[in-house]
Amino acid sequence: MKIIGTGSALPKKIVTNDMLSEFLDTSDAWIYPRTGIKSRHVISDEKLEDMAAEAARKALADAGMEAGDLDMIICSNVVNEYITPSLSCIIQGAIGATCPCLDINCACAGFIYALDIAESHFKAGRVKNVLIVCAEEPTRMTSWKDRSVCVLFGDGAGAAVLTEGDNIKGIKCSAASATDKLYQKHILEPTPYITKEEESIPLQMKGQDVFKFAVKASSGDIRYLLDNLGMKADDIDWYLLHQANMRIINSIRDFLGQPAEKFPTNVENHGNSSSASCPILLDECNRKGMFKPGDKLALSAFGAGFISGAVIIEW
Ligand code: UT7
Repeated sequence: MKIIGTGSALPKKIVTNDMLSEFLDTSDAWIYPRTGIKSRHVISDEKLEDMAAEAARKALADAGMEAGDLDMIICSNVVNEYITPSLSCIIQGAIGATCPCLDINCACAGFIYALDIAESHFKAGRVKNVLIVCAEEPTRMTSWKDRSVCVLFGDGAGAAVLTEGDNIKGIKCSAASATDKLYQKHILEPTPYITKEEESIPLQMKGQDVFKFAVKASSGDIRYLLDNLGMKADDIDWYLLHQANMRIINSIRDFLGQPAEKFPTNVENHGNSSSASCPILLDECNRKGMFKPGDKLALSAFGAGFISGAVIIEW
């Protein structure tokens, strides 16, 4: 398969580090050097499903494709207002598609996992055109009293349209259960029979453990793909990494021994938008005309689970 269109959508509200320090014991002087984040887009009156549909429409327009041409929609999402129906079904209706739909929750690595699922369907000859939408509102998962977590995240949606081709050179998906490192819990509806204790817990994170995992998993996944494809790190033109933290990106870059120019970033203005991070960055670079046909792109992401994944694409 190959990517022939990209799109993204962001909430209009921009929250700077200085705005956070008005109600949290934090500062730009702490946040920026440790994370590279200056501001993030935060949902206010928008609905996530509307942003997801907007990103999808833009990707379809970029691809020159109608929603009716789609054979499958895969939506990556960790949380949204609906438990059911799936966000992909809501997007399907909003854009006027009629194809099968499925949601996946692979945390921040959702775009890579969605590409992997799509690739399997292409290889099986079951689809000709697929839409992937990654739509996330992690700012609704964190406690806004917890300075160690809420400052890191931003909301948004990113989408990509795929069609038949031979441009995905390799995909690696990994998982290593470590459920106490990054998690959120919520209480389900009560029944007369529930006797166990349950509690609602906003997003919890062991930051330094996540940091170490991120660097190891991401550089390991990319290295695995390069070795398998007989490529060198130098052969990749662009590294599009999950935009969680500039220090993580720099550590992976050091491991790969590659120049900063190959690592476009938007973490400065978006923070971590979970699985939407990679496709939003892909769309921003695509719309700037940064990629030439034949360029080699390596995308890599990591997140709760722990889950990680990487893909090497020829543009
Ligand atoms: O998709 C994956 C999502 N998660 C990540 O990518 C997170 C990966 N981890 C990280 O990015 C880093 O671990 C953080 C940026 C989250 C934290 O950086 P750190 O250098 O590991 O700081 P720390 O957690 O060790 O905290 C150092 C100090 C603590 O104070 P004390 O105990 O030393 O007095 C924290 O209470 O910084 C304090 N602190 C803050 N201070 C001001 C934590 N958050 C803040 C804050 N503002 N927002």
